[in-house]
Amino acid sequence: MTDHLDRASAAARAFIEREHGLFIDDVFEGPTKAVLETEDPSTGRLLSRVTEADATDVDRAVQAARRAFEDGRYRNLTPAERERLLLRLAELLDRDASVFAELDALEMGKPLAVSLGIVRGAAAFLRYMAGWATKIHGRTVPPSPRDPSQSLFGYTLREPVGVCACIVPWNVAVLMAAWKLGPALATGCSVVLKPAEGTPLTALKLAELVREAGFPAGVVNIVTGRGPVTGQALVEHPDVAKIAFTGSTAVGRAIGAKAGGRLARVTLELGGKSPLLILPDADLETAARTAAHAAFYNTGQICGAGTRLIVPRSMHDELVEAILGSARTRVIGRALDEGTTLGPAASRAQRDKVARLLGIAQSEGGHLLGVGDVPEEGYFVLPTVVTDVTAEHTLFREEVFGPVLTVTPYDTFEEAIGLCNATEYGLAAGIQGRDFTQVQRAVKAIRAGVVWVNTYHVYDASMPFGGVGQSGIGRELGEEVLDNFLETKAVTVAF
Ligand code: NAI
Ligand code: MG
Repeated sequence: MTDHLDRASAAARAFIEREHGLFIDDVFEGPTKAVLETEDPSTGRLLSRVTEADATDVDRAVQAARRAFEDGRYRNLTPAERERLLLRLAELLDRDASVFAELDALEMGKPLAVSLGIVRGAAAFLRYMAGWATKIHGRTVPPSPRDPSQSLFGYTLREPVGVCACIVPWNVAVLMAAWKLGPALATGCSVVLKPAEGTPLTALKLAELVREAGFPAGVVNIVTGRGPVTGQALVEHPDVAKIAFTGSTAVGRAIGAKAGGRLARVTLELGGKSPLLILPDADLETAARTAAHAAFYNTGQICGAGTRLIVPRSMHDELVEAILGSARTRVIGRALDEGTTLGPAASRAQRDKVARLLGIAQSEGGHLLGVGDVPEEGYFVLPTVVTDVTAEHTLFREEVFGPVLTVTPYDTFEEAIGLCNATEYGLAAGIQGRDFTQVQRAVKAIRAGVVWVNTYHVYDASMPFGGVGQSGIGRELGEEVLDNFLETKAVTVAF
């Protein structure tokens, strides 16, 4: 069998083989500090070496971002100039999409075609945010003066919040970087971006494009390293005005607490345990296909994954069979192998977490139905449907971040809604059904930030995304994301 890395293009391989330093103040630094190794999860072998930024490095990056912010070299560009820079960045990302896709596939394990879709989505989102750069404005406001002889005119200005620390996960690395950079750069902020320890390559590659696009020095800085080292230094830095985090609920809570301690702005996009509610009149084949996509897309490693199937008891057996049938059509394999549609878990830790939670599920009475064969090498896991799962089971409540779907039957609509809402999370939910009134009742009753009706995993640039409860604070995407990167200045003028 061809070595996995040999399937990559010469351009991707050359980038991977480089010893990577940090990107601070427009300079690609040499790899002088502690080295961090990454693995290819398709094989479990060493992939690349990057630098781990310590608190001193993080301080240098934040200071570069702060200087860039304070002297106005970027935020005082015209909105049209900021728009043009973002459009240029999107264009370059599209130009180099295949190399980005290869890097992402190799370091995370996504099938190449899936990676390519993600990269295209990232470029589309940057383009969407570019459009907002020229449409950020305050309002005129009519105050009511106490003194009737006085006239007052009020207006608001929307100003960038300052230096933003953007801490992103590994599951859709390029997209997460774009989700943070897009609004930060549209609003005129400066950024220090920290990719996840396992997936630093696409962020470093993006730095090349930031430079080529012509962003002024210091506006975007990239620091690589582990969460408790590099991430923590960033979160604790007093000159970071805003933290935008996507990752686990546990880390999100800790970051939120630290941000609260010094009143840094913070948005948290955290975990989920999203339900897929099947209504009694849903088309069975469509429901099965949607359920498999909801649970198995990206090997289940996506915060919005639909991982709890809530199904009418009368449809249970037939639907489970149809989902297993759909799962059997997946081709499990290495990310760059032709025909692969389901890659490995992204790391040894993720694979072990899936195995641990499946073990618990079995001991609590769940019935495991895994489908397919796993290659010997690499961190592969089988797409698995678990039946006989009740609301009391661990698997019903805990995020797996793997290709695992629980199935729980219901008898009445009220019972179904109760099951949908029986977790501490509230990120996404799917509803399959045709009766408009039933669908609308379910939409209103389900506690979630995002609801997909008769579809799943639609992340459109224009639609706000984020969760309620333990799934986080704030929304990304859409017009709403701008609020996270802006402060309002209220100006009152007497005349
Ligand atoms: P994590 O939350 O530890 O990592 C996410 C990002 O936060 C990474 O860049 C990491 O370096 C950084 N980080 C970690 N600890 C930090 C700290 N103390 N201070 C500042 N930054 C820190 O997630 P991990 O450990 O990779 O995955 C564990 C579980 O989290 C997964 O199994 C999944 O359930 C969940 N998760 C959810 C994601 C989502 O999209 N909502 C994304 C990634 C993980
Ligand atoms: Mg962690």
